[in-house]
Amino acid sequence: MELSDRVKAIKPSSTLAVTARAKAMKAQGIDVVSFGAGEPDFDTPQNIKIAAAKALEAGLTKYEPTPGTPAARQAVADYMNQRHGHNAKGENVIVSCGGKHALYLAFQALINPGDEVLLPAPYWVTYPEQAQMAGGTVREIHGSADNDFKITPQQLEAAISPRSRVLVINSPSNPTGTMYSPAELEAIAKVVAKHPRLIVFSDEIYERLVYGEDKFVSFATLDPQVGQRTVTFNCLSKTYAMTGWRVGFTIGPADLIKAMSDLQGQMTSNITSFCMPAIVEALTGPQDAVEQMRQAFAKRGAHMHKRLGKLKGVKCPRPTGAFYVFPDISDATFGKKDPAGKAIDSAADFTASLLEHQKVAVVPGEDFGAPSCVRLSFATSMEQIDEGLDRLAAYLKSLKA
Ligand SMILES: Cc1ncc(COP(=O)(O)O)c(C=O)c1O
Repeated sequence: MELSDRVKAIKPSSTLAVTARAKAMKAQGIDVVSFGAGEPDFDTPQNIKIAAAKALEAGLTKYEPTPGTPAARQAVADYMNQRHGHNAKGENVIVSCGGKHALYLAFQALINPGDEVLLPAPYWVTYPEQAQMAGGTVREIHGSADNDFKITPQQLEAAISPRSRVLVINSPSNPTGTMYSPAELEAIAKVVAKHPRLIVFSDEIYERLVYGEDKFVSFATLDPQVGQRTVTFNCLSKTYAMTGWRVGFTIGPADLIKAMSDLQGQMTSNITSFCMPAIVEALTGPQDAVEQMRQAFAKRGAHMHKRLGKLKGVKCPRPTGAFYVFPDISDATFGKKDPAGKAIDSAADFTASLLEHQKVAVVPGEDFGAPSCVRLSFATSMEQIDEGLDRLAAYLKSLKA
């Protein structure tokens, strides 16, 4: 069938592809260690499940207002106000089908063909695709590995053109597992302040998964003027181990939220009705499970980083947020041959060869805009981390010059 140019231009998600391939191999009985997961390996806390189950039992099974129930929208506004110092009302919030759909709607609502999206690289694979689906042109700004892959205010200033419309900030970051300090974000906000047409998309979905010395600050609160031009994204997926529920939020100016709601109304309508009370329970109920998961991730991340640091030629910033490490494997592998004599010349070659020879799944950096790196998720058990890193060490030893 002849497909539209629009869908032909879409690159399928490489992160989902790796996870699916590792799952398929496991289903065939192959002993795969997967570092591909972009989701917590914990279950959703019981109190949240019960809230949804009760709502379902009570018959909350019909259409609801497209941007979310008033109670759910207010719970998100209260959460952002109390935890992060926002000044949001219910009308500043829309609930969408995951953080992914929230971002999609925002790109569609703000980008005209030819508008430029400034994208710090490495970046989450979905941003460039969604920016381009909206007719935008992506301009990458490459953060250096020596600066934990973060961009500097000077780099940002140099990249801004009259067509620049949106700057994407994702801190803590997927894929790098690093985050900007409050001072670094302030310096970026100062540059944004000089360019009144520029809007910031602050993707804060990993805000609760923070392990370093730096405190998380929400970008919209740094400068009142820039705050009015900042759109904040959050979700329940990572913080509350709810990736399959598909609950995401946008917090922004009421006119933008209304436009996104009009668009969502023609796409998906409201998210699943009986998830609405679960949003209220997640955000206002006990938070102990979140802290327990954070502590487990902190230990695993530190352990993984320490072990990677012992592998010759592998360079990796310390993970301070999210649940990823993003080592540069080019010195250790590029230009060498694997046990089958195949040359390793790219992160994609390395990833395929590692899976074939040692049954370890990692995600190649090409689609994140970082072709020397691979992403490993530490949302898996300590035993799997040790087993996978033993295999990675054995693989590196097996390479021939
Ligand atoms: C940086 C980033 N933003 C947004 C999302 C989307 O999250 P959701 O699962 O809620 O759609 C992800 C998911 O991996 C992510 O890593």
